Amino acid sequence: MALHTALNELLDVRVPLLNAPMTPQAGGELARAVAAAGAFGMLGFDEDEPQDAIAQQAEIVRQGGTPFGIGLAAWVLARRPELLDLAIAARPALVSISFGDPAPYVARLHAAGILVASQVQNRAWARAALDAGVDVLVAQGTEAGGHTGSVGTLPLLQLVLEMTRKPVLAAGGIATGRGFAAVLAAGAAGAWIGTPFLLARESRTADAARARIIASDETQTIYTSVYDRVQGKPWPKEFGGRALRNAFVERWHEHEDEMLASPQALAEFREAKGTGDYTRAHIYAGQSVGAIHAIESAAEIVARFERDAEARLIACRALLG
Ligand SMILES: Cc1cc2nc3c(=O)[nH]c(=O)nc-3n(C[C@H](O)[C@H](O)[C@H](O)COP(=O)(O)O)c2cc1C
Repeated sequence: MALHTALNELLDVRVPLLNAPMTPQAGGELARAVAAAGAFGMLGFDEDEPQDAIAQQAEIVRQGGTPFGIGLAAWVLARRPELLDLAIAARPALVSISFGDPAPYVARLHAAGILVASQVQNRAWARAALDAGVDVLVAQGTEAGGHTGSVGTLPLLQLVLEMTRKPVLAAGGIATGRGFAAVLAAGAAGAWIGTPFLLARESRTADAARARIIASDETQTIYTSVYDRVQGKPWPKEFGGRALRNAFVERWHEHEDEMLASPQALAEFREAKGTGDYTRAHIYAGQSVGAIHAIESAAEIVARFERDAEARLIACRALLG
């Protein structure tokens, strides 16, 4: 018995699961290890990284010899169009373009033989992705770590599944094989998983950040624009970022204008980011932090999701009486 959806053939994987293209945590080592474990490895192209550093990460995953994907943000591409060239040059099987309209980029990617995915956060973004001709939609709920919308994974997934027969993946809050099985049972073609891979040995997560993730429970995230505003990042307003709570975000959440007028607040953040002081600097992470407790290899994480989802789905047969 094995998990099987449309994704297995589409992405040539054994397990219909992808690691999310988290920047900067999902680098070449993580994507490569996830792919080697039989799932689909994604690399996040970080808008803050220089081009040669990004190319280096892509080379690491390419060396693995498996298909892989690259994640991009539409608003970043509008400012750094060269990242699309870099992505195409890396010859991925899939590119995701989220947080904005993917339409301007789909034809070029398709012409290069690359599948296109887009994370969608509500009906309007799902419509835009379908109109743009993307191949895979990712219903990204507000439980997700990092930037996301404001609708929960389950209401969003149900709605998007009703809109299309194209493969739809679920993202946001999928912490264990139970959650993986739940979205597959709902009709998703796979799971797009971020936060649990922050603790993967191969991810580019700082040790101090790992310790805070392990110590956090499911109530300790906040959906906020504090960290975009303090860093001057022009994220579209509708996409807040879900991060772990700390003293800095508690102080300035919903007081962002005041924060920007405070040279002391700006200096405090800059210093904290520089020294990796996560009592002030940000760690983007989703509500599934409450369910992740240990550092494991990517292979162990993939195997656990696979094994536990299979067991859950087998147990579900009993529900039919
Ligand atoms: C630390 C972190 C960084 C992220 N960076 C990106 C990114 O650069 N591009 C992107 O498309 N999604 C990014 N995401 C969102 C993920 O793609 C995904 O939607 C999310 O992690 C899924 O929810 P989960 O964290 O509950 O598993 C990020 C998520 C996290 C936790």
